[in-house]
Amino acid sequence: MVDMSTALSTLELPNPVLTASGCAAAGEELNQFFDVSEIGAVVTKSIMTRARSGRPTPRMAETPSGMLNSIGLQGPGIDSFLANELPWLKAHGARAVVSIAGSHTDEYVTLAKRLYHHPVAMLEVNISCPNVENRGQVFACDPLAAARVISAVRRAANPNVPIFAKLSPDVTDIAQVARAVIEAGADGISLINTLLGLVIDLDTLRPALGGVTGGLSGPAIRPVAVRCVWQVHQALPSVPLLGMGGIKTGRDALEFILAGASAVSVGTVIFHDPSAPMRIARELEAELAARGFQSVREAIGFAHRTSSEQAEFFAARIATTQPDVDMEATV
Ligand code: FUM
Repeated sequence: MVDMSTALSTLELPNPVLTASGCAAAGEELNQFFDVSEIGAVVTKSIMTRARSGRPTPRMAETPSGMLNSIGLQGPGIDSFLANELPWLKAHGARAVVSIAGSHTDEYVTLAKRLYHHPVAMLEVNISCPNVENRGQVFACDPLAAARVISAVRRAANPNVPIFAKLSPDVTDIAQVARAVIEAGADGISLINTLLGLVIDLDTLRPALGGVTGGLSGPAIRPVAVRCVWQVHQALPSVPLLGMGGIKTGRDALEFILAGASAVSVGTVIFHDPSAPMRIARELEAELAARGFQSVREAIGFAHRTSSEQAEFFAARIATTQPDVDMEATV
């Protein structure tokens, strides 16, 4: 038996597997496949102040070991979200991590205020959506812009609700951006959003996506995501991290935990295996047990320990769990 509980700042979770924003709407469809209250949390599709139809079609293109999306933050807007999706999540006992997105700082502030009195387990502040017309709106590509949004959200949001900043891997120094958002008041960091990509359709001889560029997700980006988690954990070891990017199995999830994530979000895999969050949680438990871990928490960041520190950890474990043996009596 492995203790699968974990925490993201003050948010306690029964297990460390969450959905990834944008891949499970607000959980209602997934509830046909498993009880959404049983996963760590449902992370909603990023919500904006107004209803939004998103980018022109086509919006998805297949890539080797992944996919490119160019949705453009389609969504119902905050009024409809508060009237429908959020009450549904509460009624079904799910922990709701609400992802918010905006075109400018004031929009994030409006969203944080509108959510203030609602049952929100955590806010994930999406400052890294690559599918916006203006690259200046990818706030996470600039530490100052990222910090400005986060500090405004921190001031406006319910102080009891942890705030995680979702960062982009499309930067030179992810640890610098991470430090900026933590100093601005974020309680933790979600790593990573998709990478900016482009596919050319060889029949039309034009970009395959209506929006031209899109965000790359799926197993192809997993090593990039694990690298980001590793670098941010190394720079800020006490900051809770929510890791994501191409997780398909419990083994993949374990890589993120060992690199420093306290929990993981699974996304692209849900499109072909809607039950994946539950399966991955079970597989992760087995992977932890097979390596001698008794809890998720003791595996967080474990890969940062030297081999001798790791050996000491397991030796101490054996010393405390083995019953005293009278050697003479056993001879
Ligand atoms: O286009 C989209 O809605 C994607 C959002 C994101 O990756 O944050």
